[in-house]
Amino acid sequence: MPKTKTVYRCTECGAEYSKWQGRCDTCGEWNTLVEEIVAPKVAVAAGGSARRIGGARSLGEGGNVVTTPRLRDVSGSEAQRWTTDLNEFDFVIGGGIVPGSMLLIGGEPGIGKSTLLLQVAARLQAGGHRTLYASGEESALQVKLRADRLSSDAGDVELLSETNLETILATAAAGAPSALIVDSIQTVFTADLEGAPGNVGQVRECAARLMRFAKDSGTTVFVVGHVTKGGGIAGPKTLEHIVDTVLYFEGESTLDHRVLRATKNRFGSVDEIGVFRMSETGLDPVENPSELFLGDRNSHASGSAITALLEGTRPVLIEVQALAAKAGFGTPQRVATGFDSRRLALLLAVLEKRAGLSFAALDVFLNIVGGVRLEEPGGDLAIAAALASSVYDRALPADAVFIGEVGLGGEVRPVSQVERRIAEAANMGMNRVFLAERGVPKRLGGSRDVRVVGVRTIADLFQLLFA
Ligand code: TYD
Ligand code: MG
Repeated sequence: MPKTKTVYRCTECGAEYSKWQGRCDTCGEWNTLVEEIVAPKVAVAAGGSARRIGGARSLGEGGNVVTTPRLRDVSGSEAQRWTTDLNEFDFVIGGGIVPGSMLLIGGEPGIGKSTLLLQVAARLQAGGHRTLYASGEESALQVKLRADRLSSDAGDVELLSETNLETILATAAAGAPSALIVDSIQTVFTADLEGAPGNVGQVRECAARLMRFAKDSGTTVFVVGHVTKGGGIAGPKTLEHIVDTVLYFEGESTLDHRVLRATKNRFGSVDEIGVFRMSETGLDPVENPSELFLGDRNSHASGSAITALLEGTRPVLIEVQALAAKAGFGTPQRVATGFDSRRLALLLAVLEKRAGLSFAALDVFLNIVGGVRLEEPGGDLAIAAALASSVYDRALPADAVFIGEVGLGGEVRPVSQVERRIAEAANMGMNRVFLAERGVPKRLGGSRDVRVVGVRTIADLFQLLFA
């Protein structure tokens, strides 16, 4: 028998280490490593010979030889996708649900994952695809009460209030629905493993079995996954590797809009987002996202500029507001909300020296809208544009986005992942993106048209905007 060895595995991301350490190098979390005993794999002799090693079976022994058709001889076409009439949902997953695929929907508690899936279930059912909703989180009555609020009728959806994975799979196998929804992966467990539901081993094993079930039976499987503080789906990263499609559902708890985003998709693009509004009767797809996002924006007012930030790995558009007003007595005020005030002082000095704008007699107020903290230098160009717009008292073009770092010489510098930011701007209905000349991408992806304007310095930018 080969000897077992001890490794240490991170409960957050699944990374493996030979020694214990306080912090996981892969995901950066503290105290997440746990001991795990593993049996080493049997070594395979180099050169492909089927020599016996230490009494192990030779390569391929006991396996079956199967035919290997040429790729050109493989027949069949992609199965017809199922559409749900929830346009934004269909759009994000690449134009409808691929039958037999497995989708993971992550998001914070209360964001609307169960609501979304219940609506999807109702639409699927209406389209003739029988759907089984297995809830480990809520009782049948709780699910029914939610269903009663929805504008779409989920009355025919079959319900299973269960946390035992074997029971869920056996029930699904016997009833043979077209789609199975498991809400949530952290509440189900398999009796074959020790450990409470929600621990890494359980989550990984349950997901792997559901995937196998999806592929073996052709059932479409939706799985809800909770999100940790760090923004990842709780449990190992491998969960994301197992499934076909990973969707994140996010939003501000105080606002009623929700954004659905694909971060992995075997059957479509990952740069698309879908926007919903949470209403009294469930989630309504929002046709024009930019309208909602920047809905409270007064684009006719001077001092307002839009930039595209990267939140973690995700681009988002935010509004920057600046107000430069005649100062009273004494030293003029510099007040920044959501932005480093020393960086503001620096930008003011650059604007004064390199673009001839004088702030000496002006109070300056800067606000990043929506409670966001702008920490990326990529927001500099929008702040510079907003400040200049306020000084000149002339509004910026309403459909423009500003992306770039501003240097001490007044030069505009490129920022990372500009294609994704531009794609987000396009998604949000923006038509013009101003950015560093050197950072203009050669080729633009994205579904909607957007004009990219490269500028070398802030003086160039102001010449374009205010001349
Ligand atoms: P839910 O789908 O339970 O979230 P999750 O499964 O992600 O935890 O949604 C919960 C919130 O949505 C709750 O605060 C109530 C609200 N809601 C509405 O505003 N309107 C509705 O029609 C429904 C069903 C829920
Ligand atoms: Mg829920």
